[in-house]
Parts: sequence; C-alpha cells; structure tokens
Amino acid sequence: MRIVLVGPPGAGKGTQAVRLAKELAIPHISTGDLFRANISQQTELGKLAKSYMDAGNLVPDEVTIAMAKDRMEQPDAVNGFLLDGFPRNVQQAEALDELLETEGIRLDAVLDLEVPEGEVVKRIAGRRICRNDSSHVFHVTYSPPKKEGVCDVCGGELYQRDDDSEDTVRTRLEVYHTQTEPIIDYYKAQDLVVTISSLGPVDEITQRALKALQPQT
Ligand code: AP5
Ligand code: ZN
Repeated sequence: MRIVLVGPPGAGKGTQAVRLAKELAIPHISTGDLFRANISQQTELGKLAKSYMDAGNLVPDEVTIAMAKDRMEQPDAVNGFLLDGFPRNVQQAEALDELLETEGIRLDAVLDLEVPEGEVVKRIAGRRICRNDSSHVFHVTYSPPKKEGVCDVCGGELYQRDDDSEDTVRTRLEVYHTQTEPIIDYYKAQDLVVTISSLGPVDEITQRALKALQPQT
C-alpha cells in the first residue's frame, strides 16, 4: 500500500505514521526525520536544510525530491510506503506522480489529518523528541515518557526541536496553508483524499485511520 499523510504541523502525523506503518507493514518515510538525521550527522545536506528548517520554511524542492526519491527506491519500500511530510507543495506532488508513473505504480490514498489550530499550538509547545531518533515522539502532558527527559524506546535524551519556538511555528503554519494545503485539492482531483479528525486518544485515531483506509486496502 502507498499512502501520503498530510496535515498541519503538530497534527500527529509522525505519531500516527509510526503506528500505521507497523499495522500495514510498510516503511514510514518522513522527510523531516531524514533532514534531522542529516543535521545530527552534520552532512552537507543537513547544513543546508537546517537554515530553512530553523526559519520554518521549506527546504528547496530539488534536494528534497532527490532525498525522497532515494529513500523510496530502497528495497524495503518496493511494495509500499507511508510518506510523512512529503509531498509538501504541488511541485513535489507532481514530481512524485512522475516518479510513480515511471515505475508503473500509483498512490492508494492520501490521509488528511484535521485538527484545530489551537490544539496544534498546544501539541507543539509540549512536544519532546529523542536525540537518537526523531521519530521517538513524546508530549510533556499528553504522552509523557515514563522517566522525565528520557526516551522510553531507546533511553536517549529528550529535547525540544529548534523549530518548535512560537515564532517558527507561526511561519510553519502559514507555509502549510499557502504551500501544502493546495496539494489536498490536487489529490482530490485524483479521488485519493480520505479526511479524519486527529482529535482524541492516539490509539483511537489510529483505528479511525485504519478504518478510513480500509476501502483502499
Ligand atoms: P516535519 O518534521 O515534517 O514537521 P511538520 O510537518 O511541521 O510536522 P510535525 O513533525 O511538527 O508534527 P506531526 O504532525 O508529525 O506531529 P507529532 O506526531 O510530532 O518538517 C519539519 C521541517 O522540515 C519543515 O518545516 C521543513 O523545513 C522541512 N521539511 C520536511 N519535509 C519537507 C518537504 N517535503 N519539503 C520541504 N521541506 C521539508 O505530534 C505533535 C505533538 O502532539 C507530540 O508531542 C505528540 O506526542 C502529541 N500528540 C500526537 N497525537 C496526539 C493526540 N491525539 N492527542 C494529544 N497529543 C498528541
Ligand atoms: Zn529514542
């Protein structure tokens, strides 16, 4: 199965992607996590990406598309994938379509996570992620780790993302509305969009998502 996950910053894409990827036995591909891994390894790509990410802007399409393509071509993604954070504008959606077309495959669904802006701000303000792996995500009140400041999964140190400051979040939300939201219409034209509410307990949302994706599975 090939799924694109879309939703504003803090909607719970990463949180749900980890669970859905496990349930559906497909790899979770997050361009944000790939960029953060490059930043912590201090690669050239990481250095370039950091300046855009810290400002809340999109990393240029050329490098983002090349990185996503490279990841999608890994052996574990041959039979399906869950894309989280890619595509993020219409140009990237068109590039993905071209890539899939050359492979003779297509997307099965675009899962759109809806959540009110006030909730997004609360979720981002309390988010803590793991230094070892930014897909290990916690929240100081909504999903606290067993031991404060320590990742339940791997024991790594938890910290607040550099782009989770109030100012940067405002820019990220604006970028979402102007650049990313248009891809929902782009995919509606292909009859691929499934919208669910991302409010409520995490496990309930996972079940809601699996049910909504059922006609496609
Ligand atoms: P990226 O890492 O993709 O960030 P984002 O889209 O802003 O999304 P977030 O990671 O902030 O939120 P999320 O929806 O995953 O929420 P989460 O599950 O963590 O991108 C970061 C940057 O990288 C971009 O700004 C850009 O610069 C660059 N980038 C990435 N992809 C790119 C691309 N394709 N093109 C160009 N640039 C790109 O949840 C949030 C919090 O809420 C957590 O603390 C969690 O514990 C909590 N939570 C989750 N679910 C619930 C719930 N149901 N109830 C209560 N709390 C919950
Ligand atoms: Zn961890």
